Amino acid sequence: MSAVVDLRSDTLTRPTPAMRAAIAAAEVGDDVFGEDPTVNRLEEHAADLTGKEAALFVPSGTMANQLAIRSQTSPGDEVLLEEGTHPYNFESGAPAALSGVQVRPLRGERGVFTAEQMAQHLRGYDDHYAPVTLVVVENTNNRAGGALFPLGELERIWELARARGLSLHIDGARIFNASIAAGVPVSAYGSRCHSLSFCFSKGLGAPVGSVLCGSRDLIKRARRFRKMFGGGMRQAGFLAAAALHALEHHVERLAEDHARAKRLAAGIAAAEGFRVVNDPPDTNILIVDADAGVLRGKRSPEQTLSAAVCAALGDRQVLALTVGPSRLRLVTHMDVDDDGIGRAIRAFGEISAS
Ligand SMILES: Cc1ncc(COP(=O)(O)O)c(C=O)c1O
Repeated sequence: MSAVVDLRSDTLTRPTPAMRAAIAAAEVGDDVFGEDPTVNRLEEHAADLTGKEAALFVPSGTMANQLAIRSQTSPGDEVLLEEGTHPYNFESGAPAALSGVQVRPLRGERGVFTAEQMAQHLRGYDDHYAPVTLVVVENTNNRAGGALFPLGELERIWELARARGLSLHIDGARIFNASIAAGVPVSAYGSRCHSLSFCFSKGLGAPVGSVLCGSRDLIKRARRFRKMFGGGMRQAGFLAAAALHALEHHVERLAEDHARAKRLAAGIAAAEGFRVVNDPPDTNILIVDADAGVLRGKRSPEQTLSAAVCAALGDRQVLALTVGPSRLRLVTHMDVDDDGIGRAIRAFGEISAS
């Protein structure tokens, strides 16, 4: 383990020696021609895991979400999603720029909205209205601290979507974290949506890549838009080999990340001046607020409280991310072990006492 305990994101993991060996041994071809055997194998496996007919390997979670939107809407349509979701907040305005749709954010509770809330936004036909054609659910919800979207509520949203002829997409960047924490197979989510995307480059520990899963028809449309968006990759089998390795070796171990996140939450909560917003965390992400009294007199006036806490953690070789003036995010992942968690807890204790 490295000297630095890097809790900024689960995207920071480096390939293990075994994963590097799998990458080096990959059989490859030109995937734009559909001739990369490792990509083809990965896409078939992802489709099986999610219970969908087909899948498409893409460079990023952002591209997977945007392909789902582009393939299931027309310009001028409206997309319903929760106000804290990634496609709304952190994808650079892509729904408007790439699909010509407008987005209607719903205010949920820790990333979760209800079928009743959804129903309130489904107006009848009127020439004045942008028709809602797509609903997006994020599971787990990043900004809410890796929060689970309950399967029961998803089921009700899915029933309503079908009754009203709407498409439903799940941004499942961390769907394996959800599956492990909730104790349900990924196919339970896949069977309650039209499209489901997930990432290999987060908790699963692969260097690059995400996948969009759906019907054969949907994936055919998405494949064309992937080319249009510049996401057609050639010998992508090197990346697919890492993804296949991750699916085989790094899924069950996500439970360790969740247990470490809980231990970290308890440790930080015991340090005066810090409050864990989502204690205990559902999965691998912690959101922590610092009280105004923390580091009083020890930070420069132009520094936010969260930046000052991050700097103080950094002095102790622990890295966290600022996500608000007094709010931090910490994420557990496969490159942080029990010792790292202990060091992070000690660092919070020292800052609290300083
Ligand atoms: C929930 C969620 N969706 C999508 C993405 C986008 O993934 P990428 O960074 O691969 O584009 C992220 C990234 O953190 C995410 O947390």
